[in-house]
Amino acid sequence: MKRNIVITGGAGFIGSHVVRLFVNKYPEYNIINLDKLTYAGNLANLKDIEDKPNYKFVKMDICDFEAFYQLMQDEKIDGIIHLAAESHVDRSIKDPFTFAKTNVMGTLALLQAAKLYWESLPEKYDGKRFYHISTDEVYGALSMNHPEGIEPPFKTAASSEGHKAYGDDFFYETTKYNPHSPYSASKASSDHFVRAYHDTYGMPTIVTNCSNNYGPYQFPEKLIPLFINNIRNRKPLPVYGKGENVRDWLYVEDHARAIDTIFHEGRINETYNIGGFNEWKNIDLIKVMIKTVDKILGNPEGHSLDLITYVTDRLGHDARYAIDSTKLQKELGWEPSLQFEEGIEKTVRWYLDNQEWMDNITSGEYEKYYQDMYKGR
Ligand code: NAD
Ligand code: TYD
Repeated sequence: MKRNIVITGGAGFIGSHVVRLFVNKYPEYNIINLDKLTYAGNLANLKDIEDKPNYKFVKMDICDFEAFYQLMQDEKIDGIIHLAAESHVDRSIKDPFTFAKTNVMGTLALLQAAKLYWESLPEKYDGKRFYHISTDEVYGALSMNHPEGIEPPFKTAASSEGHKAYGDDFFYETTKYNPHSPYSASKASSDHFVRAYHDTYGMPTIVTNCSNNYGPYQFPEKLIPLFINNIRNRKPLPVYGKGENVRDWLYVEDHARAIDTIFHEGRINETYNIGGFNEWKNIDLIKVMIKTVDKILGNPEGHSLDLITYVTDRLGHDARYAIDSTKLQKELGWEPSLQFEEGIEKTVRWYLDNQEWMDNITSGEYEKYYQDMYKGR
């Protein structure tokens, strides 16, 4: 079946994996990558598919309601997969307005344009879909009541060897929203708007909340690519606080596959949590990265441990994220595919093999920004 799909934020980290998957898997679809190309957007992420006949790039700000409404009409859009967002918690602490503007007002502009266009059609919302990609951070922070770790209730293919849970509660689809950072507050607000468009106007919407992603093409302000690059360049590794915070990591291609499954088979007005039961304390994860980079670069074991530098903690730093994705696994049969240690090794190798991609980003302008950002830490 032919479909006309807009993927917003397709030049970013997760979006580029989603665009690649859809363009390669569905030659009969018309895939439009809509992206403003902020500092985080990079068309180099999509070099391998940019010439495919079913792919088109449109440079646009999601806040531009008029332009998006026109695009909906011109391209007869029947599906929207919305990933465009400001995505970095540290930036949101410094500049919350940009987060409210893009994440809240931008999402609202897309919803309203989609509503006007779809309601103008004879078939109205039939066969249409507005799929909003969100984060588990909207649920707030979980307690760390088992700091030494306990046997987790589930394991998946993504769970690391000797995998532990650091508390006995998890984020479920029914967990009450309780965002703490300006980033998660803006994402929570946009999730509410999406659900409001279903409840008020009957728009066919879906929201998914995913745990931390890792893998190729992630902007090197985020923990994993930043630290891989710093280890390679013998630069300090700024560990916030004591490094005890826990994050639940999922390989980005597994997230993209989940998005594909949910876009096509997910039930309207449902929420699905996406994650692989793979909790890590930051400091343990950092040690795995050090070990992996040192091994690949031929350094003696422990060579880069001296780069670990404990710095002032992030304001309002959430203690623990851990997501329960049982609903998605049971209802739609999605499973993560890549075990964490394999995923980290694959990721480290990708960044080391693609140094030009990294150096293009980290040179010049960005280096200055990064220095300002970390001034005083
Ligand atoms: P990213 O920062 O790498 O990419 C964001 C993309 O959105 C960039 O290409 C940027 O140019 C584009 N963009 C930003 N503002 C825009 C605007 N006003 N108009 C059009 N395009 C704009 O982000 P990411 O890590 O790939 O995250 C993508 C989505 O997934 C976000 O909505 C994020 O909240 C969500 N998410 C991310 C994670 C994660 O671990 N990275 C986990 C769960 C959910
Ligand atoms: P990050 O990749 O920014 O993702 P998020 O804040 O959305 O979880 O950070 C992951 C974890 O790593 C988080 O607990 C903060 C921590 N962190 C550091 O300790 N040092 C750093 O330089 C960065 C960027 C993050």
